[in-house]
Amino acid sequence: MIVTDSVSTYLKRTRMPPDPVLAEMEAHAARDGIPVIVPETGQLLQVLALASGARRAVEVGTAIGVSALYTARGLAPGGSIVSFEIDPERHAAARGYLARAGVGDRADLRLQDAREGIAAIEGAFDFAFVDGFKTQYGDYFDELLPRLAPGAVLAVDNSLMSGAVAEGRGDDIWTDQQVSDARAFNQRLLAHPELVGTLTPVGDGVLVAVKREA
Ligand SMILES: C[S@@+](CC[C@H](N)C(=O)[O-])C[C@H]1O[C@@H](n2cnc3c(N)ncnc32)[C@H](O)[C@@H]1O
Repeated sequence: MIVTDSVSTYLKRTRMPPDPVLAEMEAHAARDGIPVIVPETGQLLQVLALASGARRAVEVGTAIGVSALYTARGLAPGGSIVSFEIDPERHAAARGYLARAGVGDRADLRLQDAREGIAAIEGAFDFAFVDGFKTQYGDYFDELLPRLAPGAVLAVDNSLMSGAVAEGRGDDIWTDQQVSDARAFNQRLLAHPELVGTLTPVGDGVLVAVKREA
């Protein structure tokens, strides 16, 4: 728990009701124990995409498509999101949900390791969301940074790991190693000369950064 109980309850109470497909995705994730972003994080992604006028987005870790749906809904007309997932069942489920949610034509879902997939992509992205295996965050970042356009938004999930990152030690969800890796990764991004970033206590902690103009 990163914010207080009352803040968390207030955030839940003020949430706009999800559309039927998103509600179905959330129920699926809860039933099968699939880790997906909380609604506040989804809204943040949609707002960031909208505010930045993003057209070309990339995501590491589609799961069943919840974060891809929020992001796709924030993209400028004609925009699209490339999203990588290595689990075939999740990838297939995401494909079905996003089509039914009406964003199938703007979601390029790839069943591929994001580290290889991003490395093979030409051109620049103006929005990126990182939510794959935590031990691989450094690898994703190394591939992503040169492919981000000046002014691009980068969002990274689980940057506070249910508060364990601030405590500096593991808990019943995160290991000591994951926490120390996350602290080093956060520090690396926040101090990076090509980025201006901030750590937000939204959801499980979202580090948001913008790539500086050259
Ligand atoms: C936390 S879940 C993603 C949740 C999703 N972003 C959402 O909120 O709707 C992480 C996903 O990343 C996938 N994943 C892990 N490592 C990956 C990699 N190297 N390339 C692509 N997908 C990966 C996992 O299979 C898992 O489904």
